[in-house]
Amino acid sequence: MSARITAAVFTSHVPAIGAALDQGKTDEPYWQPLFAGYEPSKEWMRDNTPDAIVLVFNDHATAFSLDMIPTFAIGTASSYAVADEGWGPRPVPEVRGHPDLAAHIAHSVIQQDFDLTIVNRMAVDHGLTVPLSLMFGQPDAWPCPIIPVAVNVVQYPVPSGQRCLDLGKAIRNAIESYDDSLDVQVWGTGGMSHQLQGPRAGLINADFDAAFLDTLIADPARLAAMPHVEYLREAGSEGIELVMWLIARGAMGDLAGRPAPSVEHRFYHVPASNTAVGHLILTEPDSET
Ligand code: DHB
Ligand code: FE
Repeated sequence: MSARITAAVFTSHVPAIGAALDQGKTDEPYWQPLFAGYEPSKEWMRDNTPDAIVLVFNDHATAFSLDMIPTFAIGTASSYAVADEGWGPRPVPEVRGHPDLAAHIAHSVIQQDFDLTIVNRMAVDHGLTVPLSLMFGQPDAWPCPIIPVAVNVVQYPVPSGQRCLDLGKAIRNAIESYDDSLDVQVWGTGGMSHQLQGPRAGLINADFDAAFLDTLIADPARLAAMPHVEYLREAGSEGIELVMWLIARGAMGDLAGRPAPSVEHRFYHVPASNTAVGHLILTEPDSET
């Protein structure tokens, strides 16, 4: 039996969420509604813990810098150090990798004409650890191995939505050709609308975010055609992180001629720090274990 994709998970990665968790502030009035929105997700995750997660995220000048800017990088290591800018490294468990599946995905995806950068040593920041905390809470160890896929959305030129959707399709082909019956989730993280700099700092666009979620669910191919300038204009300069959601969406079966996924959970909340928080879980029709 081959590996299969069971679900895609989408979530913002706001660093202040990690700090709120680590500093025991989740019950404070400011944070309580946000964490309440992830309670159904944590419950669902307890019943649907995958054997591995391909976690698409962006590095925020923690592992990479202007010295080296890979557009798409896959982690093939057995573990990843936790580090961060801002609040510093979070007190979370070590992130274990899955070198064998990661190497298989690298091989398959590169042979499908995507030039991934292979990374054998990489520190991971809030872009990866905050989504883990939101979905798993504060365990002593993360419940499964993680394969980080880092996408450059920090320094232009950044990849197009179409390229991201197509990469998701290639990742699906790779996972389905892995010769072990693993249940794999693909996560797309970052977003939603936010701008951290310049005269429009603090921008949030709830109408754009709602439409983005609707179209991500129902018509991702159309969403993939949206140009960068529209992300910038409508979702703010850091709203471009949302292109990463198209990688996870592209990995779902309906883009390979299978039935549409189901919406397990959808949540939206403003504000969290400077950011609108969006979250979605899509499950494959045949994903019950
Ligand atoms: C904030 C949001 C981000 O996505 C990020 O990477 C850094 C900061 C913020 O809301 O402050
Ligand atoms: Fe970010």
